[in-house]
Amino acid sequence: MCGIVGYIGKANAASVLIGGLKRLEYRGYDSAGLALLDGDVIHISKAPGKVANLNAKARAEWDAGMIERAGTGIAHTRWATHGPPTEANAHPHLDESGHIALVHNGIIENYRSIRARLESKGHHFRSETDTEVLAHLIGDCDKGDLLQAVRDALHQVEGTFGIAVISSREPGIIITARRGSPIVIGVGHGETIIASDASAILAHTQRVIYLDDNDIAVVTADAVDVRDLNNFPVTREIAELGLDTAATEKGGYEHFMLKEIHEQPESLANAIRGRLDHQLGSSVLSGMGTSPRDLAEILRVVMVGCGTSLHAAMVGEYALGDIADIPAEVRQAADFRYRNPILGNHDLVVAISQSGETADTLAAVREARQKGAFVMSLVNVVGSTIARETGRGVYLHAGPEISVASTKAFTSQVSVLLMMALKLGRGRRFSREEGLRLALEIEAIPELVRSVIKQDKLISEIAARYVDNEHAFYIGRGPMYPVALEGALKLKEISYIHAEGYHAAELKHGPIALLQKGTLVVAVACEGPAKDKTLGNVEECRARGARILGVITEGDHEAEEVMDDFIAIPRAHPLVATIPATVALQLFSYHVARLRGCEIDQPRNLAKSVTVE
Ligand code: M6R
Repeated sequence: MCGIVGYIGKANAASVLIGGLKRLEYRGYDSAGLALLDGDVIHISKAPGKVANLNAKARAEWDAGMIERAGTGIAHTRWATHGPPTEANAHPHLDESGHIALVHNGIIENYRSIRARLESKGHHFRSETDTEVLAHLIGDCDKGDLLQAVRDALHQVEGTFGIAVISSREPGIIITARRGSPIVIGVGHGETIIASDASAILAHTQRVIYLDDNDIAVVTADAVDVRDLNNFPVTREIAELGLDTAATEKGGYEHFMLKEIHEQPESLANAIRGRLDHQLGSSVLSGMGTSPRDLAEILRVVMVGCGTSLHAAMVGEYALGDIADIPAEVRQAADFRYRNPILGNHDLVVAISQSGETADTLAAVREARQKGAFVMSLVNVVGSTIARETGRGVYLHAGPEISVASTKAFTSQVSVLLMMALKLGRGRRFSREEGLRLALEIEAIPELVRSVIKQDKLISEIAARYVDNEHAFYIGRGPMYPVALEGALKLKEISYIHAEGYHAAELKHGPIALLQKGTLVVAVACEGPAKDKTLGNVEECRARGARILGVITEGDHEAEEVMDDFIAIPRAHPLVATIPATVALQLFSYHVARLRGCEIDQPRNLAKSVTVE
């Protein structure tokens, strides 16, 4: 969603800030803005649309000497919540006096009452945003000490924030704070960079400080002083990012999404490496922080997540049921906390999230902890809020996922869930021999995926035949049902084709009414106990004139015969096969969207991590 960058140091702040905003573009946004502090004057430039527009506009309207000189500034990419994506609504926002500039991620829930109060004191607002209200509130609290003013203002607001504030009256500092929206501070040599996401920092330094909720920091070029909202100093260690900039660049691919699809043999190998125990026929997931005795005491697993991560959880539900013989449930994270879930200390709650910042998933984690459940996470972004708050879990090691449409995170999530099921299963009724067989299957996943990626050209040719379809139905049964949901999500996100995923058995209960000559039905019908029934559903669709694209198992001539087109994946355990089957559908969506000329990496209206409810 929105992105924040702040810089104070000896370099050219405008270049650092624009570079940082560009690295945050993947998060999804619709306008951008920048404030530079030159001596004791704040200059602001804002523009709807892309960061490139902002850069051109700022350079056209500002004096080149000022741009060269300014060593302090804050910048923002906005994903509209309060008011449309106009120049007036873009951040930074100024306070009433024009001395203070603020960028903000999150939502100030009580902004209306604060705005009314300030208006009655004579404040004039130029935007529809909640952020401008916070800027005015800070200005209203400012009695000559910016830190105190920010603290006083934050005590009055309800909601979530990640902020960076500068003042022309105190030019040597940036104040930053967070509650519910991430802030990470890069500690360089004679320079400090603030960002909402480490990818804006890693070109400058690997050394970072993650703020926790209700931390407020005074940042100078040489120091970071972190306090709580009551002004007590708090210690936040410096961590190493361990990422290189190449991981966040396209590396010759046309889109990040294509790069990330192609990276999967490697990202999966990273997720699996060192985590299989071929002696015991089990897995080693030390981050779970559980002894065999702890595991034996778990009576139920509840998985929470949103979007693609929710679909991974659904595959996990099948895996835990079939392999671990343990009752498993999946809950949409947003729903979870509002349903007063019944949880206790025999429940393992697993929060699944690529970003580790999704607001609903984080709220579910907090609710589960409150109820005394054993909580852990499967997260990709190291140091993210969910990873830190759960304290135990398994990192996906998929590397930075820049494309808004999630691909490699999903396959890593599923592979880790399979290993988790294996571990839990071995503590129950799964025998060593069964465990050894499954461990070998899991180890082969990167190869299975490689063989799907080799079919990229063929899949692109198939995609060309469906590029004009405006509707698509994805069907599957058993663990291929969530694969169908994920395939449909991917297609709609990036190609804007109306796509729906159904359990294949559900077709006859309603959706079949929509089938007519030429409607696209994508059937995920790989070998497994449910395959024949899925093929039966395919016949029903064909009888109504639908065109069928199958994802099937290599050499399955029976399945080939009922499909108009098919993508074949290698033979594998039905749970393991969910991974190559998903990769086939990722490539199909990608090529359809490419051929339709869509903006693949940053689809309209979408944000990479959804940090508001
Ligand atoms: O970072 P998370 O995994 O928690 O994100 C959850 C969803 O927002 C995310 O998977 C979303 O559905 C993606 N756009 C899917 O491609």
